[in-house]
Amino acid sequence: MSKTAPTTDVHTITVQTETGQHEFEAKSGITLRQALRRHGHSPHNAVTNIANCGGRGHCGLCVVEIVKDAPPPTQALDSTLSGMGMGRLSCLVTIDHDMTVRL
Ligand code: FES
Repeated sequence: MSKTAPTTDVHTITVQTETGQHEFEAKSGITLRQALRRHGHSPHNAVTNIANCGGRGHCGLCVVEIVKDAPPPTQALDSTLSGMGMGRLSCLVTIDHDMTVRL
């Protein structure tokens, strides 16, 4: 029987904003958009905070810049935006490791 490294269900998300850098812990399996909103951050501005698709990956209005340890895109729209250097759709990024985000 082989031994594997222990896994963690909680990861550190570092958020860089105009006011500084903040860190919080987020559980594996939730989206980056959910984690940000649960901890007082938002990928949206005042308008897109109201008019968005609710995290379904359709509107393209939850873009963030993942500046460190970005996971590879898994969905077409996220992949297209990422490939164009336009950021990532936070509702299509599932947290499974530590990462740093710029809002
Ligand atoms: S909230 Fe609409 S694409 Fe992410």
